[in-house]
Amino acid sequence: MGFKVTITNVGQTIEVDEGDLILDAAILAGIDFPSSCQSGNCGTCKVELISGEVDLEPYSEFALEDDERADGYILACRALPRGDCEIAWEDPDEVAAHQRRYLTCRVAEITKLTDDTCRLLLKVEIGGQLIFSAGQYMSLTFADLPPRDFSMANGPYVEPLEFHVRHIDGGVVSRYVIEELKVGDVVQAEGPFGVSHLRNQHRGPIIVIAGSTGLAPAISIIESAIDYEMTQPIRLYYGARTEDDFYDIERLEELARDHENVTVDLVLSSPIANGTPVDGRRFGMVTDAVAEDYAGPQALDGAKAYVAGPPAMVEAAVRLVQQRGVRRRDCHADAFYTEAEKAAVDKAG
Ligand code: FES
Repeated sequence: MGFKVTITNVGQTIEVDEGDLILDAAILAGIDFPSSCQSGNCGTCKVELISGEVDLEPYSEFALEDDERADGYILACRALPRGDCEIAWEDPDEVAAHQRRYLTCRVAEITKLTDDTCRLLLKVEIGGQLIFSAGQYMSLTFADLPPRDFSMANGPYVEPLEFHVRHIDGGVVSRYVIEELKVGDVVQAEGPFGVSHLRNQHRGPIIVIAGSTGLAPAISIIESAIDYEMTQPIRLYYGARTEDDFYDIERLEELARDHENVTVDLVLSSPIANGTPVDGRRFGMVTDAVAEDYAGPQALDGAKAYVAGPPAMVEAAVRLVQQRGVRRRDCHADAFYTEAEKAAVDKAG
C-alpha cells in the first residue's frame, strides 16, 4: 500500500510506499529536496506537516526540538507516512535551488594547513559550470572510496573550488586525502547541497561561528557577503583547541583589515602551546566569547547566525544565539558529523 505525499514547494505529489521514508521517495522522484545527513542529525530536511500524520524514526534533538515537533514540524528523512500528507519546507524563497551537477575535477593543489588539515583546490574539467550559494557543500569521491561531504571555502564565482579536509581518527577518506592524494588526480564531485547558506537579502547584523574546518563555509560566507556589498556588521568567532590548530589567520586578519564592517575573534580553548602560555588571544570555549560579547537576552535581535563545525560546538552555539534573540529561521547551522557519529545517533535513537 502507498500514500500520496504532496510537497507544496514544488507543487508535486509523490507516492510513498508503506514503510518508506518521505525523503527517500522524494529523491527517487527526482525532487531536489533540501537534505544533508539523511540520518536525522542535521535538521536540513525539516518541513512543516501541513496535513496528515507520520511516524518518526529516531533523530537527534538538535535536528528537531520538542517544541518544533509540537508545532507540527517533522524531519523528512525520518518520516514514515501513516496516510496521505502534505508538507512544505520553510521560506521557499530563501532556500537556494541550484541545479545539481556531476563534475569531474582534477586536483590543482594540496597544501598542508596544520598537522592534520589540508587545503584542496580542485579544477573543474567536465560538467561545469557549478553554481552554488556560499556555505553549501559538495559530495566528493576520491578514487574508489565512499563519497564524503565537504563545504566550499571559495565564493560562488571564484575558481578553483576550495575545500578544507581534516584527518579524522579512523577516517579512511580523510587519511587518503592527507596522505595519498596527489596533484593531477581525478576527483568526482556532486552538488551543491545544503541550506545553511548566505542569505544576501538580509540587512541585519551577521554572526558567524566556526570551529575546525567549519572555517571553510565561514570564509565563503564572509567573502561572498563582501562581494555582495553587504555592509552590516559581520562578526566571525573562530574557535580552536590550541594555537597550532588555527589556520588561514592571515586571510582572516586581511578581511578584517580591509573591511571595516568585518570583525574576527580568535578563541582558544587551551591557553598553553608547547608548555608556553599564548598571548594575545581570547580563551575559553568559542560560545563563552559570544556569550560575553552578547550578554543580554535580545542582544542578537535581528541578526542572522551561520554556524559550522563539530556537532557539540554547533549545538551549543545554536542554543546560545537563539537565547540571545536570533530567531530560529535566522539561524543556519551545519554540524559536521563523522560517519561514526551518524551511526551512533542511529543506534542511540
Ligand atoms: Fe534529515 Fe539531516 S537530512 S536531518
